[in-house]
Amino acid sequence: EWSREAVVYVNGVRRVLPDGLAHLTVLQYLRDVGLTGTKLGCGEGGCGACTVMISYFDEQSKRSVHHAINACLAPLYSVEGMHVITVEGIGNSQHGLHPIQESLAQAHGSQCGFCTPGFVMSMYALLRSSGEPPTEEQIEESLAGNLCRCTGYRPILDAFRVFAKTDDLLYTKTSLESNSAGELVCPSSGKPCSCGKGTANRRDDPVCVKQYSPVLYNKIDGSLFVEKELIFPPELILR
Ligand code: FES
Ligand code: FES
Repeated sequence: EWSREAVVYVNGVRRVLPDGLAHLTVLQYLRDVGLTGTKLGCGEGGCGACTVMISYFDEQSKRSVHHAINACLAPLYSVEGMHVITVEGIGNSQHGLHPIQESLAQAHGSQCGFCTPGFVMSMYALLRSSGEPPTEEQIEESLAGNLCRCTGYRPILDAFRVFAKTDDLLYTKTSLESNSAGELVCPSSGKPCSCGKGTANRRDDPVCVKQYSPVLYNKIDGSLFVEKELIFPPELILR
């Protein structure tokens, strides 16, 4: 039966959009309903602080597709029939961080934190939309619309590198760099690395292992393995 209601799912929760909100952006709506993890930075599509993921059912491919969007640019009713996932929908410190959040925190990729939800959601959309682990280049491209005034980006890229496709996930990709004194330094902290004698030793060093715990991918479809990932709402699958 065809419904006249404007339905949107936000973080797995069904919401009916009332009439008369055509002046609102998705960002204003989200923040009005209390989801203030999504930030208003520039308000004109330039900074990525407002990034959320939208999912919709693609009739041609007959599957749900996922995209990162700037919520500050999207009119509210443009996401009717879609699933909007914000940073609140993927993890929190009370019920457990998502591996993306965990990795960003551990690698010091968040300082003032204003850009963090946007970076997390751009990365999340990339991981959910690609059928297999992305390359480092794809990760960099997916973050092209996210600005950070604090970190200089290096710790963010280091944090997300663990999600890149490699033979041996982290360990072969995290190359050790030298500082001016010729010492090998940890790529994350920039400090001389106690296990810097070679990549083999890095696996055994409890500090490095803790900092860069490898990420698990689903062996069947290559997607990031997370136990409680939000599913695409069956109601939004058009028949
Ligand atoms: Fe800057 Fe949306 S607030 S891109
Ligand atoms: Fe401050 Fe990125 S951590 S803007």
